[in-house]
Amino acid sequence: MNEPSQPAPAHASRTVDLIRKKRDGQELSRAEIDDLVAGYTSGKIPDYQISAWLMAAVVRGLSKAETAALTDSMLHSGEVLDLSEFPAPKIDKHSTGGVGDKTSLVLAPLAAAGGLVVPMISGRGLGHTGGTLDKLESIPGFQVGLSIVRFREVLRDCGCAMIGQTAEIAPADRKFYSLRDVTGTVESPYLICASIMSKKLAEGVDGLVLDVKTGSGAFMKTEEDAAFLAKLMVETGQRMGKKMVALITDMDQPLGLRVGNALEVEECLDVLRGRGPEDLRQLCLELAGWMLHLGGRSSTIDQAKKLADQLLRSGQALEKFRRMVELQGGDPAFIDDPQRLPQAKHSVDVASPRNGFIGAIQCEMVGTACVVLGGGREKKEDSVDPAVGIILHKKVSDRVSAGESLCTIHYNSETRAAQAKKLLQQSYQIVESPPAPRRLVHRIISAADAS
Ligand code: URA
Repeated sequence: MNEPSQPAPAHASRTVDLIRKKRDGQELSRAEIDDLVAGYTSGKIPDYQISAWLMAAVVRGLSKAETAALTDSMLHSGEVLDLSEFPAPKIDKHSTGGVGDKTSLVLAPLAAAGGLVVPMISGRGLGHTGGTLDKLESIPGFQVGLSIVRFREVLRDCGCAMIGQTAEIAPADRKFYSLRDVTGTVESPYLICASIMSKKLAEGVDGLVLDVKTGSGAFMKTEEDAAFLAKLMVETGQRMGKKMVALITDMDQPLGLRVGNALEVEECLDVLRGRGPEDLRQLCLELAGWMLHLGGRSSTIDQAKKLADQLLRSGQALEKFRRMVELQGGDPAFIDDPQRLPQAKHSVDVASPRNGFIGAIQCEMVGTACVVLGGGREKKEDSVDPAVGIILHKKVSDRVSAGESLCTIHYNSETRAAQAKKLLQQSYQIVESPPAPRRLVHRIISAADAS
């Protein structure tokens, strides 16, 4: 005889009613949000119903109470790590996502070289933006799916470890994140806040530096929207007793010169060798400075930035990166000889149609061009080609002559390369005189600004 089914909890809600409720702009209760998160994480609610609810949430927005409930529910969908066995301050950074935004690969080893513990849990590419895990996986052998036991061992050995969400840590975000990526439901400050803060608070950190991007390649296109999101996240972290700061940084053109997984790893290795493009180097020093400062390694932010610079120049940060790669199953030979990283079979230049200056680069299009090449996902189940991407030769304000190369496409499929080329041609705007320079760091939002 079949067992009688368990009675539904008193508050149990029909998913379709929760979709209707959000569609009509009403507020869901904590119990209703818990039902959605638990139902989707356990597989009881299908993708199509959560997609509909997410779209309603993007269009209607969430209240502060709903955002807090969603963050908390996703945070407690798995284990919340207790890292009190590590005496050093545990500080992480997270970015809202951008194009060529590769700072995590430099920052984790750099902050660890400065004496912090960095337990970094990252995501995959989302929409037109790249993901730290996809970049790390372009290093042959590198494992991002460590068990928590192994994660702790790596942290104990080298002070930093970089993994993805596991079945144990914020499993709800892992499922929501990959669904949002392919259903046009990324661009919501409330959903971004819940996604980022749930996985970051599950890491057991003492403090968090947030890199909130603004501009044509960011999810938050205007500085005002970025500041709104930054305050939401700083406030959420503070409520949980964490040291928080958010930097609103420029994403109106790609960061650095390389976009694409293995290409970006190579650029990070350059920065870890004390070289690399100036905008990327400067942003790494800013963010590492704030990590070291929150972790009590300096009394002023300027001292912290100088310390970060020394750690890069001395090779200590590179040594930490090499050790982390080795501990996470990667072959450190790729660090010494980046040419051995996956390389695309073909390359083609995109030429400037005329003389002038680069007035703007429509950054989201550059990110989309990389996705089109196979460097990101169009569908949830797509795999990523680690080798493909774009190397920029010209950035905003640079002078250019007709026929000169704006960028080079590295590709493995002619059809994809042709589509990417069209996007890149459209993304570059050539003007008669150079535009006014934009600042790399637009604003800093500290705990005092958010409360
Ligand atoms: N990064 C995340 O981790 N989540 C989002 O929703 C957006 C960027």
